[in-house]
Amino acid sequence: MANSAHSAVAAGVQRFSYPAVYVLGFIPAVWTFHLAVTDQLGADPLKVLERSLGLWALRFLIVGLAITPLRRFANVNFIRYRRPIGLLAFAYAVLHVTVYMWLDQGLDAGAIWKDIVKRPYITVGLLSFLVLLPLAATSNSFSIRRLGPAWQRLHRWVYLAAAAAALHFAMLVKSLTAEPLIYAGLVCGLLAIRLLPKQARPVRQRPVLAATD
Ligand code: HEM
Repeated sequence: MANSAHSAVAAGVQRFSYPAVYVLGFIPAVWTFHLAVTDQLGADPLKVLERSLGLWALRFLIVGLAITPLRRFANVNFIRYRRPIGLLAFAYAVLHVTVYMWLDQGLDAGAIWKDIVKRPYITVGLLSFLVLLPLAATSNSFSIRRLGPAWQRLHRWVYLAAAAAALHFAMLVKSLTAEPLIYAGLVCGLLAIRLLPKQARPVRQRPVLAATD
């Protein structure tokens, strides 16, 4: 009796936890948009909004990459949340780029192109975004089945996306402060763990955005 009650609770938690990750994950976006429309983001609300969305994209990428090492070193298993976390990172990247293209550049293709060519940090940001696109598009069970082992190889590119995003951040600050260095350090650390020899890594592995190791 106690056992069946326990499994019913566990099943309930499982069923609701997946959407709950999305709900929780979008709180920063909703809150920042709320602050923006109610004029509470200071003198340059557009910049704050743009930066906040970019930062959350990078944070979710890093959290997604930390899931396997967490399981390995701390015995904490969040593997099932890797896909929603990866997709949240992508959603924030889309919002970030949309704010840039639409609100910042007024959808002026010429100005956007000029920025991409003239500002290396924008070029690197675009690289990160372009790498995320196929990863997000294949973060579903159908693609995992369809692509087989190629799916895992494709999703390893998330490390490049995260590294490019961290570099994008470091390049845009005028004088290098602790924050971008911390994010770059986290990405480098996670990449170093990923590059550890196979026998030193966990036995069971799964891939990136939808599930990476
Ligand atoms: C087409 C692609 C992208 C463009 C055009 C772009 C553009 C920008 C711009 C204009 C800023 C603000 C610069 C300023 O304050 O003057 C920024 C900041 C930032 N972007 Fe991007 N970005 C792109 C992709 C990405 C991606 C894919 C990520 C993360 C996955 C990202 C993460 C960041 C971060 C972390 C910041 C700094 C936030 C802060 O200062 O707190 N960006 N980006």
